[in-house]
Amino acid sequence: CGICGVVGHRTASPLIFEALRRLEYRGYDSAGIATLDNGRIDRRRAPGKLDHLQAVLEAQPLAGTTGIGHTRWATHGEPNEQNAHPHAVGQVAVVHNGIIENYESLRDELVAEGRVFSSETDTEVVAQLIDLMMSRGASPQEAARESLQRLQGAYALAIIFASHDGLIIGARHGAPLAVGYGEGEMFLGSDSIALAPLAQKITYLDDGDWVVLTPRSVQIFDETGKKVRRPAQPMALIAGAVGKDGYRHYMEKELHEHPVVIGQTLQRVIDPVSKAVALPKFDFSLAEVPRVTMTACGSAYYAALVGRYWLEAEARVPVDIDVASELRYRAPPLTPGGMGLLISQSGETADTLAALRLLRRSDQRIVSILNVETSTMGRDSDVTLGMVAGPEISVASTKAFTAQLSVLAALTIAMGQARGTIEASRAQQMVSSLFDLPSRAAEVFQRVADIQAMAVIVAAARDVLYLGRGVCFPIALEGALKLKEISYIHAEAYAAGEMKHGPISLIDKDVPIVVIAPSTILFDKTLSNIQEAKARGGRILAFTDEKGAARLSGIAEQMVVLPDVDAFVAPILFTIPVQILAYEVALLKGTDVDQPRNLAKSVTVE
Ligand code: G6P
Repeated sequence: CGICGVVGHRTASPLIFEALRRLEYRGYDSAGIATLDNGRIDRRRAPGKLDHLQAVLEAQPLAGTTGIGHTRWATHGEPNEQNAHPHAVGQVAVVHNGIIENYESLRDELVAEGRVFSSETDTEVVAQLIDLMMSRGASPQEAARESLQRLQGAYALAIIFASHDGLIIGARHGAPLAVGYGEGEMFLGSDSIALAPLAQKITYLDDGDWVVLTPRSVQIFDETGKKVRRPAQPMALIAGAVGKDGYRHYMEKELHEHPVVIGQTLQRVIDPVSKAVALPKFDFSLAEVPRVTMTACGSAYYAALVGRYWLEAEARVPVDIDVASELRYRAPPLTPGGMGLLISQSGETADTLAALRLLRRSDQRIVSILNVETSTMGRDSDVTLGMVAGPEISVASTKAFTAQLSVLAALTIAMGQARGTIEASRAQQMVSSLFDLPSRAAEVFQRVADIQAMAVIVAAARDVLYLGRGVCFPIALEGALKLKEISYIHAEAYAAGEMKHGPISLIDKDVPIVVIAPSTILFDKTLSNIQEAKARGGRILAFTDEKGAARLSGIAEQMVVLPDVDAFVAPILFTIPVQILAYEVALLKGTDVDQPRNLAKSVTVE
């Protein structure tokens, strides 16, 4: 979900609406805008897509130069108009991302004061609280400050006040919020993409900050109420980079960016001339890390799983790994001085952030692999390893995944060299196979017709099984996730060797089996598993390489044959056609590829 606020001299509503369009990629299920029209709060809200809100706004435009807007991803209460933001109570309208955890006790307290609630949301308590204080004579600033102190949980807020044209108050506590600076106008937004064409400079608020915006001033206060200065950065790069460039979907465009993104990311972590791994400075020794604890969510977690295979096998370092929402409640006993390794495209995922804090409390060195380096995770890490994927707009992650793997590959080489487990000649071989990848990745797009033939079979299925072994098991997991996310077909991924211990009972002619089988040392074992499935009537759809194809012909009904590459980089290359398969199936199913139902790009609630 996303927030936008505008205070200035231009009609606010169209500016806010366009910012909400740019925030659409984060995923949402209702939207709304409120402005001050001659000091009076006026608002429009609509369930579903922004087109619905647009129709409402066209029929009844909003006047005024001060306003706030929101795209909501439902947490408390279904996504109908009543629960959509902004929430307006008396003299106050509020938009909110996150969850107010103590909303029930606050609501009871407010009801006891005679307050009447009109929605089921946790957000309304914020509006009620501020309005109550203002009705007792508090100024907007006093009412906001005191109310913020009562809130528990994670939130980003933007608030406007009746009879106070030219004033917005924002607050950030565990959910992202940034300030944009214009000429005689100021902005609030969930991220730089929202603010890009509006503002010339941007300030990322620190956690606990709250901010008072007028058309000509920005005053930032920290948690204790002390006025603080936060650095502003020029708003350069992003503005032009978020079009579809002629592709049908952002996802299609981003899939085509794999080769470039892998290349750019590698150049960032490996010196292209000396071919030496060149990571930012660590203030601890990679040779002495006793253990690595990896964590992430969604696709980033599957990238982390590949990293575990690499770090254990190549750098010989013990690795523990879990999804962030589990790790943080597992109370794992951690050796002080270990490395906490987080992976996140956005750097804002609430579960991963919570795990980061647990790792920090357990005296781990925090290293994070991020696409958005200015994010909260970036600022809370000891070392940030940036991937160079550019803005990823499609909710389903694609290019960020191969960028994450590219960084993990470089980290593996660096750790292996530091620990003496990877010799110079092997390191050279690993680096040259990585630098070979962008061209091999580009060749994948010559296989799209074969992937489309496979997609026809998958699109007709109700359930699909994905199999892989070793480093290709996480790629099977990624393939199944992507298929579920955007085509709504049920898919499960299994370690191929584990299939005979359970899911083999599902196999019949109606369950296609997608196998990720490059000709690595596990190829023969995988082939046996494929034979077991085939013997039970399973239809085999195989992603393999040229060597593997010779062995699979006659067994697989459909094959996508990729170029032969070093086994080390195979999981990076094989990700691409597996993601394309999900995309092609979604096209056949006619789903909303870039914004699949119920999903959000950046989940800032736990
Ligand atoms: C959401 C997205 C996933 C993503 C996950 C982690 O669930 O829908 O595509 O992989 O969050 O996001 P992050 O920004 O931390 O990588």
